[in-house]
Amino acid sequence: MANKIAIFDTTLRDGEQTPGISLNMHEKLEIAKQLAKLGVDAMEAGFPISSKGDFEGVKAISQQVKGPVITALARAVKKDIDRAWEAVKYAEKPRIHTFLATSDIHMEYKLRMTPDQVIGRIDEMVSYAKSLCPQVEFSPEDGSRTRPEFLYQALETAIKAGADVLNIPDTVGYCTPDEFASIIRGIFKNVKGIDNVVVSVHCHNDLGLAVANSLAAIESGARQVECTINGLGERAGNAAMEELVMALHTRRDYFDFTTGINTEQIYRSSKLISSLTGVHVQPNKAIVGSNAFAHESGIHQHGVLAKRETYEIMTPESIGLKKNQMVLGKHSGRHAFEDRLKELGYRDLSAEEIKEAFQRFKDLADKKKTVTDSDIEALISTELVQIPEAVELEYFHITSGNSLVSTATVQIIRDRETKQEAACGDGPIDAVFHALERAVGIDITLKDYRIRSISSGKDALGESTVKVKNGEKTYIGRGISTDIIEASAKAYINAINKIIYDMTELANGNGSVKDND
Ligand code: KIV
Ligand code: ZN
Repeated sequence: MANKIAIFDTTLRDGEQTPGISLNMHEKLEIAKQLAKLGVDAMEAGFPISSKGDFEGVKAISQQVKGPVITALARAVKKDIDRAWEAVKYAEKPRIHTFLATSDIHMEYKLRMTPDQVIGRIDEMVSYAKSLCPQVEFSPEDGSRTRPEFLYQALETAIKAGADVLNIPDTVGYCTPDEFASIIRGIFKNVKGIDNVVVSVHCHNDLGLAVANSLAAIESGARQVECTINGLGERAGNAAMEELVMALHTRRDYFDFTTGINTEQIYRSSKLISSLTGVHVQPNKAIVGSNAFAHESGIHQHGVLAKRETYEIMTPESIGLKKNQMVLGKHSGRHAFEDRLKELGYRDLSAEEIKEAFQRFKDLADKKKTVTDSDIEALISTELVQIPEAVELEYFHITSGNSLVSTATVQIIRDRETKQEAACGDGPIDAVFHALERAVGIDITLKDYRIRSISSGKDALGESTVKVKNGEKTYIGRGISTDIIEASAKAYINAINKIIYDMTELANGNGSVKDND
């Protein structure tokens, strides 16, 4: 029987370190539930010492998400490990993941510790973590640039101190596949006790080699891979889970390994994460890009029509991309809508969620001749992660043109009170944003604004994503509508509601403002 590779997802930790990403607790929980459905073996839910928000996120996931191992990250210091344990101890299968750098450059310039001190700290902190938590993972940070003899000594120390998983990071994405494979082989050959632990790898993508390096490590004996959905992560990101899993799945004839991933949940996971993080997937991205299964050239189209395998090595259905068999419109009833939702993989929505989604669908069908699968997915993903709507948009009016100053009037409802404001701007969207800022009286700086069409045709649904700052924190807002100014206003209000939610949580002592380094 083929060996199994454990998939360790770190979207909620390393992925959340992607510049500009900031997820609230509801969004983290929604992602964690989707990762469990996807079938990951372990998920790194966060870095609890880094902020109250991270702590609360790991705690909520540990309490509510069953199935996978839930891991919390900690530096090799007591206060980090205590905080990680406090957050993860509620999990069905908790794990503390502690790390300490072992390369000369990190030890000398970052840690300012001697190699002997590093060995002593690994011994002390892995033992301490093990005294609290049944499963401990240790990572020698910058492992791939560590002198081999010292790496072996560090790993042996961690094994003796009780580590269950040893994770070898290519922290700066420096290795080539052959090099990384030989590091892993060296570990198996030289580290005493290595056969009693799981060897894992964690590859960064600075040279675009993260997936290739992870696969090379698997061929050399690694049995856990750390990865993120859509390849999110520090700098150029981490190994993309969908690429790793589909490589193992599609080339089973070559690798002969299995994973526990339900590949049909890949597309939905990718969509959910890109909409919640505001990081869009490039069209030509392997597996989940919008062009990944599109055939443009006539020769290719002809080939696929004659025999699909001429140009397709995997099916769109295998990642959960279903071909639209039925077009929905304003005459479609609730049954047809519910059936379509099920076919798209939304099987566990509550009756209330379905009711709300159906109402949104009806509103959309009034404006649009046909409602596509992409439209329905967009409706549902805005519906799923709703935080309390402290502010609602009643209406907006704009005047705009190429020879006059754009002005906007908006009316909002906040805490049952109606408020109207007007403002000028550099174009109608800028004017609406200024008017909304005035109406809510919150200091907001717009950092990024995007608009894109979700489906095709003149009546396509537009999706707007805004990135705003309030104080030190970044918030992502998302809005959809067939009218791009309305989509933009909704995205701005969505970000405003996240700010208000955070302020309320902070006032209640559950804030997510980064308050530790
Ligand atoms: O890249 C890295 O080295 C890490 C460690 C914490 C595993 O993210
Ligand atoms: Zn990393």
